[in-house]
Parts: sequence; structure tokens; C-alpha cells
Amino acid sequence: MVVPESQEKMYYPPDDLKGDAHVPDFNSYLALYRKSLENPEAFWKEIADEFSWKKPATGPMLQYNFDVTKGNIYVKCMEGAKTNMCYNVLDRLVKERNLGEKVAYYWEGNSPDHHMAITYRQLLSQVCRCANVLKQMGVKKGDRVSIYLPMIPELVYTMLACARIGAVHCIVFAGFSSESLCERMVDAQSSVLVTADGVYRGEKLINLKQIADEALEKCREKASSSVTKCLVIKHHALRTKSGAACNKLQTPWDSDCDVWWDEVMRDSPEECEPEWLDAEDPLFILHTSGSTGKPKGVLHTVAGYLLYTSLTFKYVFDHHHDDVYWCTADIGWITGHSYITYGPLANGATSVLFEGIPVHPHVGRFWEIIEKYKVTKFYTAPTAIRLLMKYGREPLQKYDLSSLRILGTVGEPINPEAWQWYHEVVGQGRCPVVDTFWQTETGGHVLTPLPAATPLKPGSATFPFFGVEPTILNEHGEELEGEGEGYLVFRRPWPGIMRTVYRNHERFENTYFKKFPGFYLTGDGCRRDKDGYYWITGRIDDMLNVSGHLMSTAEVEAALTEHPAVAEAAVVSRPHKVKGECLYCFVTLKDSREFNHKLVEEVKRLVREKIGPIATPDFIQNAPALPKTRSGKIMRRILRQIARNEKDLGDLSALADPKVVEELFSQRCEAA
Ligand code: WT7
Repeated sequence: MVVPESQEKMYYPPDDLKGDAHVPDFNSYLALYRKSLENPEAFWKEIADEFSWKKPATGPMLQYNFDVTKGNIYVKCMEGAKTNMCYNVLDRLVKERNLGEKVAYYWEGNSPDHHMAITYRQLLSQVCRCANVLKQMGVKKGDRVSIYLPMIPELVYTMLACARIGAVHCIVFAGFSSESLCERMVDAQSSVLVTADGVYRGEKLINLKQIADEALEKCREKASSSVTKCLVIKHHALRTKSGAACNKLQTPWDSDCDVWWDEVMRDSPEECEPEWLDAEDPLFILHTSGSTGKPKGVLHTVAGYLLYTSLTFKYVFDHHHDDVYWCTADIGWITGHSYITYGPLANGATSVLFEGIPVHPHVGRFWEIIEKYKVTKFYTAPTAIRLLMKYGREPLQKYDLSSLRILGTVGEPINPEAWQWYHEVVGQGRCPVVDTFWQTETGGHVLTPLPAATPLKPGSATFPFFGVEPTILNEHGEELEGEGEGYLVFRRPWPGIMRTVYRNHERFENTYFKKFPGFYLTGDGCRRDKDGYYWITGRIDDMLNVSGHLMSTAEVEAALTEHPAVAEAAVVSRPHKVKGECLYCFVTLKDSREFNHKLVEEVKRLVREKIGPIATPDFIQNAPALPKTRSGKIMRRILRQIARNEKDLGDLSALADPKVVEELFSQRCEAA
């Protein structure tokens, strides 16, 4: 493969960043990187020494088996140590570092009229009160707490309160449907659900409590409800009300189960002794899509995740104490867990916590917020950049963006046009763009530039972070030397890697370790160029990446086939200007059912209701038959090519009935 001319231009770190940078040049990166692989014990020990341990470790910094042929897969970090995550990210800073009065979060509401600053001391006090509330509700160490909240301060309070008492938080993105919420609560066997009355996303009022109730009802129908209490934050009623008639919201209430947050928080004491946990005790479960359609409960543990998120945050954003950092992700995704909550707090950072969306009340909202808080480090997704690019330079020119020093992206490969625009227009050519590749499973960045050290190539996540040893394998599991393209895998763990799929260790081993014994399989394709730069080429399994959100073809297909007229469905991705990829669905209808506009709308609505708005299909195509092999396997490669209008289909000899292809081409959807 030939690298296009424009991608080969290198961008060198700006000099003004080097003065006080943690890793000031490429040789320092290489030296530290070598140390991290050659002497991981010493490398991670030094990082661990910055944190508080109730008891020191008795085992090594890292112990593991990555080879299924040699026994069970496991990773352990600092066995024997006792600590508490919440203590490390709050008490340690307030009590040992004197950072009590420093702002932890500038909360910025959906409406620019709603905002507040929260200091570390205030955060600690709210977290302790919430921890006591949870204890009062019967939550104990090891219990799971499901959290279904918008981006409000209480979301951070609740997750840290869980961490403080040793409960395992299981956050569900508040854009997910009641069905998705139910599925995740059942899988986690949570005893408490925390939600809010309602929230505005842009102009749209969402009745969260009602969705939460529907989810609880569905759990009861499945006779698998473990949730006994629902803690409800009065967010809409208290904070977003402006007296307009359109603000009316009915909050359904069940006094046996539901508890108002403000009522129980009011009298809750501010003192709460942290629960001292084992280094390998669970910290949280976060579900991510799995190729079978059933989400996987990715489990992260206390000590390793603390070390890894705090170190990646410090180095990748070259954090300094006067920074104002803003990550636009939602805490419902791993990006928010690692780089809004834990990583920044562990470093005593000041962050912006934003409830809204990029285009409300106007398309310059991001730039307005950067100016307002003098943001120095800004972290967002390619899909947001592509969306904002559409409005041109004018919305940015109204604001002063001179505070910015480092820009970051995450979630999907960034195309060179979006990279250039981010670098030139947002960063005014001054700011390095750190393209961070990682996954829910990896806990933190694994391939990433360091802003003052790494020369950048637009579209490349460049090199591995400390402790990470990537390699590229071909189909036969042979390692590629030098240039080449294949499966991206990792040869050893780093402290922040997931430990298991909750209650399904077998699935963990099968998904990530079975195909190539000795390696963790990412599921992504990757190319290494002649200079050793890594380029992620996208998923090579049955996963789709829509606006940086992973979903499986199987889960969308399952939703489609729930429609009474649909006999069979197959879903593939098609490139989309803003979303990166979008969903293109082929549906085979049952006999005598007619394919028409009404059906298309019904089917789209169904997927939206089953999974959530992020999974709304862009295209529904009628498929009188699907291209299958003689053994009945759907040939997705062909469907992908039809969706993309690629006429050269190559070898079709595996197809049971090659005529199907022509028929499908004739009924292709051009536009959404
Ligand atoms: C998948 C993981 C990591 C937080 C957000 C997504 C894709 C992620 C990049 C990047 C190219 C990327 C991969 C990965 N991805 N970052 N910088 N360049 N691709 O977390 O939902 O677990 O998704 O997102 O395909 O496997 P996730």
C-alpha cells in the first residue's frame, strides 16, 4: 500500500511545549519506553509510590498469563496491596497536597445559563455524603450499583461514592434505551439504580425516570430484577427549569422503591471512612458491544486502573497544575471514566464537565466554552470535528482560542481532512494533535503520541505508550517484521487492561486470547509503515463504529428481526461524512409483506427503541434474498460492497446463488 503524499508530512512538536514537558523529546520517550518493557517492576513501582497504600504490595507490580495453552488467562497488579481509589483521587489531594480549594470541575449545563464550579474539597464532601446514602440504602462492598445519568456533577459524586465504599459502579450511557439499560442491570445484578428526573439534550427534553422505570419493569418481567431501590436526582426540576410551559415533566413515582436524592443527601453526614480494598478488587463494570450481540461487562480493578489512567493522563496531555482540561466525551463511555473522572482527578486537574451538545444553542458552543474557561487541553472525537467542520471557520473566529496548547482525538480513525482542520483551524497550527488509540478493554491509551516528543503523521496513532508491547500478526499468527498490515495484538499486559468479562471468564478468554495464543487481540486491523508508525485501519470483526461508538452487527440484526414483517436481516457499515460509518441494513421480508416507506420508518424506529438513538440505521434496503455460502453463512463482504456501490466484487464462487447479487444491486439505496 502506498502512503498518500499528504499523509507523509510530519508535524514536529512546538518548541514552547518542550520547556516544562514531562517527556520533552523523542529520545526521552524511547528511553522511558525501553525501561518500561525491560524493567516493568521498577517502572511501575515508581508510579505507584506517588499514591497512598494502606498496605504495601506483597506480589510483583504485574503478574500474568496471556497464553491459553498454558492455563487460565489472568492479570494481577500489586497483589496484597490495600488501597482505595476515592481516597487517592480526593482525600490524598485535599489532605496531603493542599488542593482543597482548587477547582476540580467547571460544570457547564446544556444551557449556557447553568454552570457551577466544584472544588476538590466540595467534591470530597458530596462524595462522602453520597457514600453514606448508598450505605443507608444497603449497598455494601462488592455490590453493583447501576447509574443512568446525564453529564451532571452527581454522576461523578455517585461513581466516586461507589469507589469509596467498594461498590462496583456500572454506568449506562443515558442515551441508551430502556431495553439496553435493563439488559445491563440484569447482567450486573445491581441492587440499586441511580437516575435523574429528566434532562435536556439540546432542545429535547428526555424523561429519564420514565425510561428507567420501563427498564425496571422489563427486568421484573424477566423475573430477574435485583434492583430494590432507585435513587432519583432532581436535576430537571431544580436546575433546568425556566418557567416555560414546555418544561412540564411528569415524574412517575413508586414510593416503595424510589428515593429523592436531595431528601436523603440533606441529612447525610460528610464523614465516611473509605473501605480499604485489595489491589485486584473490582472498581467498575462497563458494558461494551460484543460480536454475538450480547454486551460484555468489561471489568476493571482498583490499583492497576489507578496507575494506568493517572499516568496516561499526565503524559499524553502533558498535564501541569495550571491547566484547564476538557474532554467532551460522556462519562457513560470509557473515555469519560478514564479521562473525565479518574485520570484527571488522580492528577489534581481542573476539568470542564459539559452536559450539552456541540450545536446548542449555537454551533460555536465548543469554542465559546474554550474561551470562557481558557481551556488549555482539549480532547474530542473525530465525529464531532467533522460535524463542526461543516459550519466553516466563522463560528470559531468569534472566540479567543489562544489558551489551547494540546488537542486530542479518540474513538475512531481520524481522516486527514479532519486532522488538518483540527490542527489548522482549531489549534491555529500551534497545538500538537494526540490521536489516542485505545478501547474499553484497555482502560487507557495504548497507542498514542506524546505531545512534546512525538513527530506526528496525520491519521496515525504513532507509537505505544509505556508498558505496551504491540505487534502485528498475519492470518496464520505469524508476526510481521517492519512494514506490513494485519491484526493488531499485544504481547503483554499493562496495569490498566481489563481483568475479565463479568461473570463470564470463558467469554473473556475466547474473545481476546483464543485466536492467537500468547497475545491479546484488539479486533482492529493495523498497518506499520517504514518509520514504525502504527495506523489503525478499523475493525476486522463484526463490529461497526458509528460516531466513535462501537456496536455489533448482531445486536442491530436482532433488533431488526423483531419486526413482525422481517424474516432475516444483515447489517454492514457504509462510510458517512460525519459519523465515520453508518448502518446499512438489508432486510428480507416475510412472504406477502410489502416493502414500503412506512415499513422502513417502522424498522428504523424499532432499532432506535431497542438499542438507542446512536444505533438508528441510515439505510434500509429490501433484500428478496441475501448472498449466502452453500453452508448458509451470509457473505458480509459482498453486502458491504453493495452498500458502497463497489461493482468489482471479485470471486463469487462461494455463493450458493450468484444471481442474488445483481438483484441487490438493482435495489440499492443511494441516499438516506
Ligand atoms: C474501538 C474501541 C477508546 C475510547 C472510545 C472507544 C476504535 C478508538 C481510535 C483511534 C482508530 C480508534 C477502535 C477500537 N478506536 N480510538 N484513535 N484510532 N480507531 O472505545 O467503544 O471500546 O471502542 O474504537 O476500533 O477497537 P470502544
